[in-house]
This record gives sequence, structure tokens and C-alpha cells, in this order.
Amino acid sequence: MKDIRDYIKGKYSLALKIKSSCGCGNSAPVPLSGEKASSNRCCSSSAAQDSGEIPSFGCGFPVESAEIIPGSRILDLGSGAGGDLIRASRKTGPAGKVYGIDMTDSMLETARRNIESAGLDNVELLKGYIEEIPLENDRLDLIISNCVINLSPDKGKVLKEAYRVLRPGGRFIVADTVLLKPLPDKLKENLDAWSGCASGALSLKEYQELLEGAGFQDIHFDETHPLMLDAQSSQVLFSGVNQEELELLDMAIASSIIKASKPAPEPMKEGTDYILRNARIEDIPTINQLLGDSMLPLMPKDVNPDSFLLAEKDETLLGMIGYLIEGNSALLRSLAVPWEYRNRGIGHTLIKKVIGKLSENQIHDVYLLTQTARKYMETKGFMEIKREEIPHSLLRDSGLDKACPSSSICMKYIPAKNQE
Ligand SMILES: C[S@@+](CC[C@H](N)C(=O)[O-])C[C@H]1O[C@@H](n2cnc3c(N)ncnc32)[C@H](O)[C@@H]1O
Repeated sequence: MKDIRDYIKGKYSLALKIKSSCGCGNSAPVPLSGEKASSNRCCSSSAAQDSGEIPSFGCGFPVESAEIIPGSRILDLGSGAGGDLIRASRKTGPAGKVYGIDMTDSMLETARRNIESAGLDNVELLKGYIEEIPLENDRLDLIISNCVINLSPDKGKVLKEAYRVLRPGGRFIVADTVLLKPLPDKLKENLDAWSGCASGALSLKEYQELLEGAGFQDIHFDETHPLMLDAQSSQVLFSGVNQEELELLDMAIASSIIKASKPAPEPMKEGTDYILRNARIEDIPTINQLLGDSMLPLMPKDVNPDSFLLAEKDETLLGMIGYLIEGNSALLRSLAVPWEYRNRGIGHTLIKKVIGKLSENQIHDVYLLTQTARKYMETKGFMEIKREEIPHSLLRDSGLDKACPSSSICMKYIPAKNQE
């Protein structure tokens, strides 16, 4: 049997040349229950403006819905011409990484050009099928996708693959078309209705079941709005669908933002799962390896390793934090946990230990500078402050006085804020 994906490749190569229609029809969706459809529009002009001339074939805004944390590792399933890759890359920043996978050569080529013109070097394109993602297990923090999963002939497999490559606790946030009412078999078999993101769509119940079957939890469908299709707006992708069939599709197809997550890992316990100890001179190469991988400055040559606390299991470094003391103040630095051990409570324990130790020594003014961990540090009792509030001697001694003020957020520990 011919692979429907070959048909879809041909359709999207052509659609890219014409650049006139998006996957789910380029007319605005009709709001459900009289609500005003706001962000969830097909081929929205704001999406187009955001990424210049990049053609969008999507049906929503997964990047905007995802609240991307800087430093995240992200995969876009069916990345098309690269608009969402570029937006995600800007949000995750240089410490993060964005992969885009697509099966259509011309889409990959267009995305490559767009990424190059945007001057981004944290985006990597993968040629392949979303049913067989060429990435290792537990690799990513976030999976996004925009109007693609409905096109797959094996959506269960796609969702299992998405689950496999997400790390425990990782998030799945995609825009996709969904069916609000069953379609006649005749239309289900129409290849153009399929490649137009219509007849391959799942009902919300089917989507939920496949996500659960893959292992996902916390499943939500947000912003579900019916799409209005018409013959004129569907010239390329719906060319083989007649007027009567288009009317059947009308109000049966909606776009939705589908959110789910991979269950979080068990927290690791200090004492049972790992130990904490001060660093030694011989740890410096391993420490610098972790700092480099985390895009953090390497350990200064003249620093006392004793002021670095390490989390270790069987001689494997699971995390680290450094601190610098100046009078009654301290500056935290170099908090790093390898990606495979994140979200297991190690960073929290390291911060708590250092703050406890400083407090025993009557040091209560604890500061830090961060480019990527502002939200995380807020959960640990830190609050953003003005740069001038950090004693200059601390910044000078740490060498951080030269850190770019516009990209570094300054924070101070407020004990009352720390509930944990
Ligand atoms: C409707 S377009 C969406 C493109 C992009 N996400 C956007 O928002 O503009 C679908 C894209 O998914 C790709 N695609 C469809 N099915 C695929 C599959 N099974 N594996 C990999 N890519 C696929 C197509 O080549 C096309 O680029």
C-alpha cells in the first residue's frame, strides 16, 4: 500500500511554492460557543509578522502557549518552514537547544535558510518521520508541534515516540486539529481532506486515549475553536475535495492546544541516593565539564575549591553549587545539575545546604546573578533586585562585574519567601 506520507510530502512541497494556504485552511476559525477566538488562528497574521516572511501552515501558537524556560531542550514535530523553531530558539536562548523534524525536503531547505537568516545557532534540523524520532530516550524538556500529528497515519506511534524522547517531567504542548463530530467514511478516505489536516484528525476522546496509552498525564485541551473551511481558501490542500464534502467538514474540524506531561521522576534523597561534599583540586576537570555543558563560566583558576559543594553518587557528579563570601554577604554561583538528573530535587538540596551553612556563619545577605534560572530561583526564595543592590566587592571578586547587565538578572534571598 502506498504510504500516505508520500502524498502529504507532495502536497506540502506544492503548498510551499504557492505559499497561499495553511494546513487547516486559511480562513479564521469560528469561535466556539460565541467566545472570541483570539490567539488560535490559522495562518495568523501575527505569526507571519513575528517571523517575517516565513510561511505558516499551522493552526495555533504552541510556542506562546508553552511559557518556554530559558535553557530548555525542545523538539518541534513537523517543523515546516521553521517559524516556530525560530520563536522557540529565541525563548530558550543560547543555553537551550531546539530540534525540528520534518520529512519534506523543500520544507527542511526553507527552514534551513530561515534559521540562517535569523542568525540562530541553537537550532538543528532532522530529516525524518515523527513516527521514528532520531533522538535518544529522555532527551527533551518540551515537545511542540503545529498542525502535524493529525497528518500521521499512526498517531499512537507518534505519541509513544514523543513520550520516549521527553525526559520525566517533560511537557508536550501542541496545536493540532481535532474532530468535533464524526466524518463520513467517504471523506475519511479522501487524501486531500487528509493532507489538509481535516480527515486525519482525532476526536478529543481518541486523542486523550492515545495520550494516556503512551503514558502521558495531566492531559488538557485548551482553546478549542471550530475552523471554517471554504473552497476558495483551500485551493492547494483541498483541491480534491468537492463543495459538498467541504460543507461536511465545516464546523466538524477544530484547532486545539493539547497539553500533557510525562510523569515526574522520583526525587533523589541526599544520604540515600547521593552524598554532598566539598570540592577538591582533583575535581576541577569534572566540574569544568559540567559548567561548560551548562553554558556557565568555568571555575576561576585561583578559586578555593572548598567553596564549591558537590552532589556525588559513585564518583559521578550529579550537581554543584559555588559561593563567594565577602564580609556579611555571599554570592551564589555555578549552580549546575546534568540534564539527566534535573527535576529530582538535587538543585534544591544544594541551595538549601549552602544557605543553611552561610546562615550558621551569620551571613544572611545572599545574592546571585542568573540568565536562565530566574523562575526556578523564585521557587527557592529569591527575588529580583536592582544590580546596584549587590555589594560591588562581591561582583568584582567573582569576576561577574563584567557580566552583561542586560542579560543577567540579579536576585537576593528573602528567607520569608522560602516556604520549603
Ligand atoms: C501543516 S504543515 C505544518 C508545518 C509547521 N508546523 C507550521 O506550523 O507551519 C505539516 C508539516 O509536517 C510535515 N509532516 C507531516 N507528516 C509528517 C510525518 N509523518 N513525519 C515528519 N514530518 C511530517 C510536513 O512535511 C509539513 O512540513
